[in-house]
Parts: sequence; C-alpha cells; structure tokens
Amino acid sequence: MPKLPRDNKRGKSLSGNKRVLHIVKLAVIIFTGLVTVHKYADYWRKTSPYNFSFPRDKITRGRFEAILWSLHLSNPTDEENERKKTTWEYDRLFKFKPLYSELVEACKTHFHPRQNLSIDERMVASKARISMRQYMKDKPTKWGYKLFVLADSSIAYTWNFFVYTGKSVSTTGHGLSYTAVMDLLPFAALGGGYTVYTDNFYTSPALVQDLAKNFIGCCGTIRRNRIGFPKTQVNDLPKKAERGDLRWIRRSNLLFVKWMDTREVTMSSLVHEAFTGQTVRRRVKEAGVWQVKSVPVPDAVVDYNHGMGGVDLSDALIGYYSVSHKTMKWYKTFFYHFVDIAVVKSFLLHKELLKLRNPTQTKPHTQKSFREQLLKEMLVFAEGSAATPLPASTPTTCMPLYYASDDSRIRKHCKWCLNAGIPRVKTSVYCRKCQVPLCLTAKNCFQLWHDNQ
Ligand SMILES: *[C@@H]1O[C@H](CO)[C@@H](O)[C@H](O)[C@H]1NC(C)=O
Ligand SMILES: *[C@@H]1O[C@H](CO)[C@@H](O)[C@H](O)[C@H]1NC(C)=O
Repeated sequence: MPKLPRDNKRGKSLSGNKRVLHIVKLAVIIFTGLVTVHKYADYWRKTSPYNFSFPRDKITRGRFEAILWSLHLSNPTDEENERKKTTWEYDRLFKFKPLYSELVEACKTHFHPRQNLSIDERMVASKARISMRQYMKDKPTKWGYKLFVLADSSIAYTWNFFVYTGKSVSTTGHGLSYTAVMDLLPFAALGGGYTVYTDNFYTSPALVQDLAKNFIGCCGTIRRNRIGFPKTQVNDLPKKAERGDLRWIRRSNLLFVKWMDTREVTMSSLVHEAFTGQTVRRRVKEAGVWQVKSVPVPDAVVDYNHGMGGVDLSDALIGYYSVSHKTMKWYKTFFYHFVDIAVVKSFLLHKELLKLRNPTQTKPHTQKSFREQLLKEMLVFAEGSAATPLPASTPTTCMPLYYASDDSRIRKHCKWCLNAGIPRVKTSVYCRKCQVPLCLTAKNCFQLWHDNQ
C-alpha cells in the first residue's frame, strides 16, 4: 500500500482519528470490490437482503459520503499551477499528482522485473466529459482514460505507468509510441538483458535499434508501412498461403518474419531465430474435413504470445475485484484505480514472498481471500490506533471503555465528579453510549451516573 495521502495544506501526515477515518474509508472502498450492490446506500440498509454489519458498525453513511465528497488528492488551491492554466506548462494531472508519483515510485521500488516485459495501453473507464478521455475500439473498456503500462510478463506486475493527457509533448523527437516506450523504461534503474514485447502500435525498426543500444531486446507485431521495414517482396507469403506457412528476412541484426495463421501475422524481433521447428495445434480443413494438426510457428510468435500477456493479465487482475465507484469528479476515478493497483501489487508481492520463503508448504491467498484478509487487518489496525472509538452508529448499550491510543493514555475530567463539584478528578474511562468520561475505580462514578439518568 502507498503511504496515506498527506494533508497538503500543512504538509504533515494525518494523525489520530483523522487517520483512522481514512483507513476505515479505504476499508469500505475495498469492501465494495468484494460485495457489490446497486446503490452505495444499500451498504447501510438494515432490511433484508442487505443488513451488512460492516460498514454500518464502523462508519455512518453520511460520514462516509462526506469524506468521499470532500476527497482531495492534492492541495486544492495550487495557485502556482492555476496561473499556468492557459500555457503548455499547466499540469492537468496536478489533482492527483502526489499520490500518483508515490504509487509509481512504490511500484518500481518493491519489485525488480525478471526478464520479459510488455508494454501496452490500459483503459480506465470513465463517463466524465473531459478532453482527456480517449476512445479505443479494441479494448473491452472503450471510453476512458488511457494509461501506458509497463508490466513484468511473468507475474503481471505493473512496474511503471503513466497517464496519457491527450497532448503529446515528445521528449525524444519521435512520435507518441516511440516516446511512450522510452519514457516507461528507465534504463539506468532497470539494467539490461530484458526483452520487451510490444504490439504494432509501438514496434518500429528505429525503436528496436535504439532499445538494442541500451541492451534491451524487443519483439513485436509490426506494420509493414513502418519506416525501415524491408521494401522487398522476396519474403512475401504466397497468394494462397496455408496455415503455418512462413517467410523471413534479416536486415542487419533485425529479423522480420511473416506467418500465416487465420490471418497473416507480421513480426519483428531482435532476439529470435526465425524458426527452430516449433509447432502449434490448429484446426485446419484438409480435403473438406476439419481436423486438428500441428503447424509450424516462428519462435517470435510463441514467445510474443507468452510475453505480451503481462499488461492484459494485470488488467484482468485489477478488474476482478475492482472497487466500485460512481463518480463524476474525474480525478477521483484515478483514486479508485490507484487503490486497485496498490492492492493487486501487494497481492502479487505476497505470492512472490511466499514462494521465496516457503516454497512448498503454505498456499498463497487467492486475490479474493487476500482482499478479505486485508480488509480484516485494516479494521483491526484502525481499531488499535483510534484515540477514541470509531464514530460508528451510536452504540445502544452503556459500557465502560478506555481512551486508549498507540502512545499515550488519554485522561479526561470525570463528569460525575465535576457535577458534584469536585473539579480535578481525571479518568481514562468513558461510557461508549453516553460519550462521557467517568471514574471507574473503588469510587464508581460510572454506576452513579447511570443510576441517576
Ligand atoms: C439485521 O441483523 C441483525 C444482527 O446483525 C439482526 O438482529 C436483525 O434482525 C437483522 N434485520 C433484518 C431485517 O434481517
Ligand atoms: C522469458 O521468456 C522466454 C521466452 O518465452 C522464456 O523462455 C523465459 O523463461 C522467460 N523468462 C522468465 C523469467 O519468465
């Protein structure tokens, strides 16, 4: 989990009950990913079939909604940025910049990718009508904000990402696709020896060559009209190509291979031999009869299908229990998505750590049970760090409780003693229903108070 959002106005960490409320708020948000209802209000309804004890016993609906309503992820009065509003320097993402930067930093710090990486776009659904929203016809989520994501292919860990704001400020002098890849790969921090898998939006001979200079291999589908794609027909597939037919050509260290599947597939790779005898099972029609046959396949295609899954799989992992929200405030959409990235990231790290420390014995959590356990522990943690008990729905019975907090014992003036004209008697006990401090020693003000209500 990233650190809790900072209270920007004063630049301090949240403290005491405010922090507890934020943990409870996050717990409710995680709960919404596990238990789905049609309206937020249903989480608090007492009638069948709802009647959930949580979140009702920890936070009232009004309070929860008030917190979400006033949720800010940055200093809402960032005058410096406001002044730049009409200039190119204006930061459209400032509304969530602090949390965004911290999360990206945490993703990079807590895991070092293995060997295979994939780069792709991810859509975060949104109905908000702002110009940053994008349309992508090939994605399950067609309308939303676009993120460029670099994921580790072996465990689908989101290692780096950035939000596309719609305006292209090229840091490389090349187009968006080239720049996106370069921006996602901090060569110094990452090191060399990786293979990056990219689809035909990104792959170009220029990109592959420039990655090679940084000791990173690249393999991906490629469009034939890319600059540097061999303009020759000697490696074209025959007109009536059959499944499994393949042709290749090399330009210096770069391999270009065409392969017939249901359609023609064109790939470019720096790290593959054209063909080493691998096959895939495919249904083919022979003499009018469908049958399953092994057909030859280039290595680049096989590895691409394994390697490219990183971002798709991480989308899926995030999608399964994604926290629910219906917000019109565009920057809050990112807040919810960031919660999901953080939870999935922790879940993947949990599995990795378990593999390292205890390879055979303990079964890791599923994502569902991980989220359940996380929710449970967050509430225990919140309970433990509350200076006064959580402002839940008011308890219906009177009971003595201690004002306990992490570091110091809180003591307040006993109400019964005060009323009786004895001013300086302090107690660490209060009644949870009446919310009144009362001595509970040999001198039982707790009892006296309640006997006289
Ligand atoms: C709701 O749950 C409480 C206990 O958690 C129970 O006492 C109450 O009868 C339930 N109400 C309904 C309408 O099911
Ligand atoms: C990376 O991909 C190659 C080719 O698919 C595979 O052989 C290798 O095991 C992968 N490495 C890791 C660490 O998963």
